[in-house]
Amino acid sequence: MKVLLTGAAGQLGQALLASAPQGLELLASSRSGGGDLLALDLSDPSACKAAVEEYRPDWVINAGAYTAVDKAESEPELAEAVNAGAPEALAAALKQRNGRLLQLSTDFVFNGRQGAPYRTDQPRDPLGVYGATKARGEEAVEAAFGGNGDGFILRTSWVMGPVGRNFALTMLRLHREKDELNVVADQVGCPSSTLNLASACWQAIQRRSEGIELPPVMHWSDAGAASWYDVAVAVGELGVELGLLKQTACVNPITTIDYPTPARRPAYSLLDCQGSRQDLDLKAEHWRSALRDVLKNVAH
Ligand SMILES: NC(=O)c1ccc[n+]([C@@H]2O[C@H](COP(=O)([O-])OP(=O)(O)OC[C@H]3O[C@@H](n4cnc5c(N)ncnc54)[C@H](OP(=O)(O)O)[C@@H]3O)[C@@H](O)[C@H]2O)c1
Repeated sequence: MKVLLTGAAGQLGQALLASAPQGLELLASSRSGGGDLLALDLSDPSACKAAVEEYRPDWVINAGAYTAVDKAESEPELAEAVNAGAPEALAAALKQRNGRLLQLSTDFVFNGRQGAPYRTDQPRDPLGVYGATKARGEEAVEAAFGGNGDGFILRTSWVMGPVGRNFALTMLRLHREKDELNVVADQVGCPSSTLNLASACWQAIQRRSEGIELPPVMHWSDAGAASWYDVAVAVGELGVELGLLKQTACVNPITTIDYPTPARRPAYSLLDCQGSRQDLDLKAEHWRSALRDVLKNVAH
């Protein structure tokens, strides 16, 4: 089986590369290529189409994305091209060749106004440019494959791994640099370790390739719920326990109003993952235990 991976230099991309099942032909790509990576610029739909035609993958995992949530507010065209245009072009080209697509998406397609975990079938209603472009990417995949069992959307939330850019690594640095941190406590979601998320991606591909039916939209995060404040406190405590920090900063809970950002974010974006965990036959790990594993893999 041949798999084309986009966004291989990103935090999920690197976890997917590190955990790829044996016996699989993996063609990994990043925006500009280099090293073992092919070059594939997702903002160029003709390049996406050409990559599918040239490499003829059985699957594409589209882990590449424009993920700078605040910057997207001032670069909507680029965010649209990468987050909506690329999945549209990849889906159309794969459909022609009977290839399959695993499209990564986000809890930010929801408005966060409900107080219960979002089910896979609930309507999208994004608050910002990033969420809106990812939502259009989802729509493009659904339109191309029409629920025929070859196009899959895997939504996840608050992705954190041992490399790349993410909240946990930022907090680790700030615990080292500062005595005191103010962190938003009124946005609730759930972290997803790249290690567990990568396993979920490979499991989806493996099960579907074995002929097991999967729903066209799935949800994956670690288990439990947290605010950004909870995660910041946990990073400090785990950082000391694992010898990454000498001491923690004092973390103060603040409100979203006290921390204005260009993009509005959902106040509550927990994903209901229960059905998807059953579909994927994977057990959930509590986010704090998964975060511990992530931090254990951070270079000292
Ligand atoms: N991060 C989160 O908290 C989060 C939450 C929910 C869902 N997701 C979704 O999960 C998936 C993986 O995210 P991640 O956390 O691994 O993100 P990431 O670390 O930001 O990686 C995304 C990768 O996409 C690449 N990329 C951006 N524009 C590109 C372009 N024009 N052509 C080719 N590559 C391009 C980036 O390269 P550069 O570094 O060169 O820009 C980066 O390596 C994405 O679909 C994202 O939307 C992420």
